[in-house]
Amino acid sequence: MTPILLLGAGRMGGALIEGWRLAGAFDASELILRDPMAGPVADAAQAAGARLNPHDSVLAEARTVVLAVKPQIWREVAVEVAPWLHASAIVVSIAAGVRLDDLTLEFGGRSVARVMPTTAATIGRGTASLYADDPQARLRARALFEPLGEVVDLLDEAQMHAATAVSGSAPAYLYAFVEALEAAGVEAGLSSADASRLARATIGGAAALLAKTGEEPAELRRQVTSPGGTTEAALGVLLGDGGLNPLLREAVARAVRRSKELGG
Ligand SMILES: NC(=O)c1ccc[n+]([C@@H]2O[C@H](COP(=O)([O-])OP(=O)(O)OC[C@H]3O[C@@H](n4cnc5c(N)ncnc54)[C@H](OP(=O)(O)O)[C@@H]3O)[C@@H](O)[C@H]2O)c1
Repeated sequence: MTPILLLGAGRMGGALIEGWRLAGAFDASELILRDPMAGPVADAAQAAGARLNPHDSVLAEARTVVLAVKPQIWREVAVEVAPWLHASAIVVSIAAGVRLDDLTLEFGGRSVARVMPTTAATIGRGTASLYADDPQARLRARALFEPLGEVVDLLDEAQMHAATAVSGSAPAYLYAFVEALEAAGVEAGLSSADASRLARATIGGAAALLAKTGEEPAELRRQVTSPGGTTEAALGVLLGDGGLNPLLREAVARAVRRSKELGG
């Protein structure tokens, strides 16, 4: 499956490079990177043996091509690169909203998989939702993302919209929650520094406990909620009318709608 050609080594492409290095998944010498504005991660990979912006003729060596540029420029990049690729190269796209049919067409009929990753791939704690019609492309995408965390196979390409709303966009929901908790802590009388430390360490620890114990979140919630206590008082707001359930339903529905608009 190597060499792997990475088109775009920005925030997400860089996270893939870091995650693969951390997991020891691929040697830097198995990577070909193409990015006109390569940053420190690409530079470090180059120092370790990756080929950065080599001559176009080198692209034919790639057996796997990862499309990691912004959705707005994916077509331009595909048109540039496709003529140089080997006929058997498999394309794995992480470009949000870009459809399989369009990718297959622009990449000259080559096998394509779509993946919606998260940036926690950089520490091996990513989540990747994956779809492909072709079993070979699905296997290839799995092999790329399994070293980077959790992989979820989707049954239908249309589910990519929901996966984007529930996973791709969701790290931002948690960061927004932490910001709001910190601000509420300051309102309640804590210094800004203490509110930040308390909120970040508590939420980070609680998320780690959820992952480590494998317990249902509802069970973990019950374990820390005494009847008539402080937590129950707060949950009366968070789980009440207009609380988290309707808010998240609406947030996810809006993200799905936007994903459909962007996908055309
Ligand atoms: N960030 C996330 O959390 C996330 C999550 C899931 C999926 N994604 C998907 O990942 C893709 C990349 O997002 P990102 O956040 O990593 O964006 P980004 O940081 O802007 O990275 C894209 C990289 O591609 C480079 N590039 C521009 N033109 C190129 C060309 N002709 N050939 C090769 N590389 C080129 C960009 O360089 P310049 O800086 O010069 O433009 C940039 O370094 C998007 O399609 C997005 O939908 C991102």
